[in-house]
Amino acid sequence: MSCHPDRERPLDGDIDPQETVPSRKNTVFVDGVILNGPTTDAKAGEKFVEEACRLIMEEVVLKATDINEKVCEWRPPEQLKQLLDLELRDTGEPHHRLLELCQDVIRYSVKTNHPRFFNQLYAGLDYYSLVARFMTEALNPSVYTYEVSPVFLLVEEAVLKKMIEFIGWKEGDGIFNPGGSVSNMYAMNLARYKYCPDIKEKGLSGLPRLILFTSAECHYSMKKAASFLGIGTENVCFVETDGRGKMIPEELERQVWQAKKEGAAPFLVCATSGTTVLGAFDPLDEIADVCERHGLWLHVDASWGGSALMSRKHRKLLHGIHRADSVAWNPHKMLMAGIQCCAFLVKDKSDLLKKCYSAKASYLFQQDKFYDVSYDTGDKSIQCSRRPDAFKFWMTWKALGTLGLEEKVNRALALSRYLVEEIKKREGFKLLMEPEYANVCFWYIPPSLREMEEGPEFWAKLHLIIATDVST
Ligand SMILES: Cc1ncc(COP(=O)(O)O)c(C=O)c1O
Repeated sequence: MSCHPDRERPLDGDIDPQETVPSRKNTVFVDGVILNGPTTDAKAGEKFVEEACRLIMEEVVLKATDINEKVCEWRPPEQLKQLLDLELRDTGEPHHRLLELCQDVIRYSVKTNHPRFFNQLYAGLDYYSLVARFMTEALNPSVYTYEVSPVFLLVEEAVLKKMIEFIGWKEGDGIFNPGGSVSNMYAMNLARYKYCPDIKEKGLSGLPRLILFTSAECHYSMKKAASFLGIGTENVCFVETDGRGKMIPEELERQVWQAKKEGAAPFLVCATSGTTVLGAFDPLDEIADVCERHGLWLHVDASWGGSALMSRKHRKLLHGIHRADSVAWNPHKMLMAGIQCCAFLVKDKSDLLKKCYSAKASYLFQQDKFYDVSYDTGDKSIQCSRRPDAFKFWMTWKALGTLGLEEKVNRALALSRYLVEEIKKREGFKLLMEPEYANVCFWYIPPSLREMEEGPEFWAKLHLIIATDVST
């Protein structure tokens, strides 16, 4: 017998005693709802999961990584709306129809695991992190308290400890969160809390004009964080960079003095290790000196470049990172842990993170539980429900070892060197600069512009190429 919620269930004596549906005598009816009957048809559900998993295996894991298959069946939005059955109806659809829908979703989605998918910041398919994702999707845990997520909280602790080690701190703290942008927000708020702890209770009123410094090449999340936190985008001071896109420390110090002269209150410098576009690494040691002189919190946005810490050959790019007060590092970029997998790490060991973010909700974070409640790390987070993202990275790290991760980083950088040499050899390509990381910036000059002099008209025409319809 089907237990589909849409179907009427007979409640008289003809119910099969083998079924889990209660007999009429035991039925608990409240507000016209049977409370002690099954809510779903488990057998049919299990079969659906099995068939869908087969589809995922064939169409996503195998086919979508096949170089002979398409990266994407691109359709413009209006056309795609016609091809997909997007409407949500009053009655549910049968499983065979749902499987067809799944097939359509896969067909028209971009295959980010494809070897020819070259969008920024992806690095291919990592099978181990994928399995970790399947597991966490199936287990559906939430890493706020130990009683709900014992394993995943210990895994998070182990991964954070190791990342802290790679930064070069003796000890520290941290929390996985939904992205580098969010990590930068965590940092800005934590630095402000450290500067004026009263803000947690008293809010913004009565504060001086707080000001922070970052490079002109920083990630746009700095602006978002400043507006989100009520600091204001006008109080983000964009420090000039050199020809390679690195923050100029002397310029930083000049701007700090200037801000102080204007009566503003500098509280934070955000350096970037691996800028989004050029892949530039700010000089952390010199910036840390400026921060020390002026008592400023140093946050390093290593969302992209942090992976270089895994490589003995390339970790010098982040020389001085151990002097940072906080670091954002995304294993979901070069280290291939699935999106999202991002750590916000803090050098402080005085529980600053918890002091800043905790709300001490007594229904969740009771202090008199039957285990060590320091493992209820959820109160350090701005979230309540939280995904066990560290587990994806842990699985990959377990599978490849530190040496395997190092090899991935070295390979990515060697590939970029190779690309640079190929660009130099090819007509119609112009390298912007020698890269120091995996970002290779170049222009493609179409034949029609190759003889043209580099003036305003040349650049205007070249910029138009990027806007050309990709389907043509
Ligand atoms: C330097 C830098 N910081 C922060 C971010 C934002 O990371 P997320 O996409 O995880 O929010 C990026 C993303 O590209 C980045 O390159």
